[in-house]
Amino acid sequence: MDQQPTIDYRLLVDNMTTAILLVDSNLNIFYLNSSCEALFDISLLRASGQPVINLLHAPNDTFNTHEALLNTLKSSQHYTRREATINVNFKDIHVDYTVSQLNTGKPYHPLLLIELNPIDRMLKISKEENFIQQHQVARQLIRGVAHEIKNPLGGIRGATQLLARSLNDPKYAEFTDIIINEVDRLRNLADTMLGSRQLPSYEDVNIHEPLERVRSLIVNQTKKKIKIIRDYDLSLPDVKADRDQLIQVMLNISVNAIQAITENKEFFVEHEPQLMLRTRIQRLVTINGVLNRSAVRIDIEDNGPGIPEDILESVFYPLVTGRAKGTGLGLSIAQNIMHQHNGMIECQSIPGKTVFSLYLPWESDHVAK
Ligand SMILES: Nc1ncnc2c1ncn2[C@@H]1O[C@H](COP(=O)(O)OP(=O)(O)OP(=O)(O)O)[C@@H](O)[C@H]1O
Ligand SMILES: [Mg+2]
Repeated sequence: MDQQPTIDYRLLVDNMTTAILLVDSNLNIFYLNSSCEALFDISLLRASGQPVINLLHAPNDTFNTHEALLNTLKSSQHYTRREATINVNFKDIHVDYTVSQLNTGKPYHPLLLIELNPIDRMLKISKEENFIQQHQVARQLIRGVAHEIKNPLGGIRGATQLLARSLNDPKYAEFTDIIINEVDRLRNLADTMLGSRQLPSYEDVNIHEPLERVRSLIVNQTKKKIKIIRDYDLSLPDVKADRDQLIQVMLNISVNAIQAITENKEFFVEHEPQLMLRTRIQRLVTINGVLNRSAVRIDIEDNGPGIPEDILESVFYPLVTGRAKGTGLGLSIAQNIMHQHNGMIECQSIPGKTVFSLYLPWESDHVAK
């Protein structure tokens, strides 16, 4: 008879989509698997030894989590909570979780096993798919309009130049100049609306390189008035990407942050403005409907007033702007570039903390949904 293959159980547990937490008899975290690290955005190293209650209990939850956990520890009766709220990075997440006792064979060292299933993930995926479709329709519409605007502009410009020449009178030159300047402005706008016509040219990119380029551009632009903090994970692998397009994405997002800071100086009475650039590995992330085992994440975070609430949901749509002089194209173009890279941009914003997270999958690490 064939021998049974040996299974590396640690590997198995780390590849499960269910988040798993092991808790010791003092209700401190003993172990969490990769899904759990991703769910709570915390590493095993940082989490172990911490009271589990810090992760599992949202401040406004009326359920007595501590007592329920102690009860299972004592009585070995398992329990399940549905649609419980946990708070991760200021954001409420809804999970179903089951707590049961793990029999370790040692009577005085019972462990609790907590299995968590986020229910928002499914919601988020369908919301994302909807969003991508709507975004594509909106972009096509915009491109169509931009194209139609651009078509007659060449003719108007040429005719105005002819007119200026045949009039040959400085009295009218002022008016023909206005027409030409406005036509040029409109053409530039239409070009931005059309977006880049070039397909990305992919190469191996260490994302810290474009990020540093953007940082130095911002330092120059802001004359060091905004503190820039770097928190890089230098062990990140290279990704296949178009370097120049990545710079454009990072720049569009950073410039928005700088504008939000400089145009709302009254917000900074008690704290100084700052921009944080952070890089991380993100495990198990669904991007455009594909579950990736790992992706590179770049956070661009500012402590400005936040995105106005009325445009928060639609901020990636073209022509959505909260600024008097904004065209509302920066984020739409950035999201488009990231989609071409099989990546995405996510955004969370409350006054004092706005984070744009860029995700780029590792090419070799795709797994089916
Ligand atoms: N970090 C941020 N803090 C506050 N508001 C932001 C931030 N980033 C974006 N926004 C809001 O989102 C809107 C849309 O941004 P987007 O870059 O798409 O367009 P825009 O900046 O208005 O115009 P442009 O086409 O010149 O970039 C902004 O007008 C602003 O109101
Ligand atoms: Mg912008």
